[in-house]
Amino acid sequence: MPDTPRRPEGTQDFIPEAIPAWRKLERVVGEVFERYGYLEVRPPLFENTSLFHKSTGETTDIVEKQMFTVPSRAEGGESVTFRPEFTPGVIRLILENQLLKQKPCVKLWYSGPVFRYERPQKGRYRQFHQFGVEAVGSNDPLLDAETIAAFDQILRRVGVTDHAVRINSMGCGECHGVYREALKAFIAPNLASYCENCRRRFDRNVFRVLDCKVPADKERNEKAPPAVDSLCAACRTHFESVQRGLGAAGVAFAVDKRIVRGLDYYTRTVYEFSSTRLGAQDALGGGGRYDGLVGQMGGPEAGAVGFSAGSERVLIAMAQEAEAARKLDFYAVAADDESRVDAFRAAQALRGADLAGDLDFEARSMKAQMRSANRAGAKFAVIVGSEERAQGRVRVKPMEGGEERLVTLDEAIRLLKGEAR
Ligand code: HAM
Repeated sequence: MPDTPRRPEGTQDFIPEAIPAWRKLERVVGEVFERYGYLEVRPPLFENTSLFHKSTGETTDIVEKQMFTVPSRAEGGESVTFRPEFTPGVIRLILENQLLKQKPCVKLWYSGPVFRYERPQKGRYRQFHQFGVEAVGSNDPLLDAETIAAFDQILRRVGVTDHAVRINSMGCGECHGVYREALKAFIAPNLASYCENCRRRFDRNVFRVLDCKVPADKERNEKAPPAVDSLCAACRTHFESVQRGLGAAGVAFAVDKRIVRGLDYYTRTVYEFSSTRLGAQDALGGGGRYDGLVGQMGGPEAGAVGFSAGSERVLIAMAQEAEAARKLDFYAVAADDESRVDAFRAAQALRGADLAGDLDFEARSMKAQMRSANRAGAKFAVIVGSEERAQGRVRVKPMEGGEERLVTLDEAIRLLKGEAR
């Protein structure tokens, strides 16, 4: 037997039984974001590679080793990269479509697949899905709190209630200067013992040393001074206001000075949501403020904040009460071979009237068709045979027992919709 094809490493198939939970999550995500005044956008799956170098950051794990990049087919043309995150593409979309000219504060949401070349494990994939928001054009700390509250509400609505919200502040450009020096002063005496990657990052972008996964470096970094200790007065006030906002929104949170996000663009507030139901990859999602990015990408100086959640991880954390698959309203049954086209015609008429139904495509016996009707969980069998055809009618039989009726198609529609008895 030849081997059947396998899906690529780090990808997942979602077979029909997985779909109800996805649909529930997607429905709740859309409803909650729209209730908070966010509008949906759908940027392309891939962007020019340079976009991520300029925004996500040259020295981040994502840009250094996780991007799925396709070289240009045109001589000297630019390569494209399947998005490893949404934020850069959404900011590009805002600028390219001049959305900030229409409104001073643009609030957008999105949901879709994301690609990172990582070592796959439970909750960590090479193709995964994110949903999230980006709010651009305001420095208001209440906006930071709003994004956190929206994520919190989505989780509650889908049945995740044991999650933890941790927040921190990285400070503004000015604080970054102070913090850079503090961090360098802490690392410099032991620099020779750090891994090669850290030694390189020490000069290029010392903040990224804090992302290192090498155990000895991780342990040393635990004693590093936290960014919050370098905050200027304005950033401290902003951070306090975010906390007051969260209090007003009724979101429980903890300040965690150790949060460092692995992307370059963050300023001021950063946050992470985690769940103990997840195991090693316990981050449900994360985000924060990135006040410099829009200006850095050629747009106006505009404050911005957002987050992205990992859909697969939220699904793992969701109470797995299996949602009953949608039942069929009817199963069309042909009593004999000659009636198959008429059974098909009846099914089409019923589907046209917004009823859900299926029929047999294997020309099986009536008994076998009734078994399929049962297995499919159909509420009614709609039977067509020579007698029904002669009268231009169909026979409607409730699958759970009850009276059979010989009726016209219009009557059948009313019966199946519960409009007639
Ligand atoms: P991130 O922390 O890189 O942030 O990713 C957000 C979430 O995506 C993670 O917390 C996790 O749930 C999920 N995730 C990340 N990598 C994987 C993976 N390999 N497999 C499964 N799930 C994964 C961002 O992407 C930022 N763009 C968030 C943001 C928006 N900041 C501001 N605006």
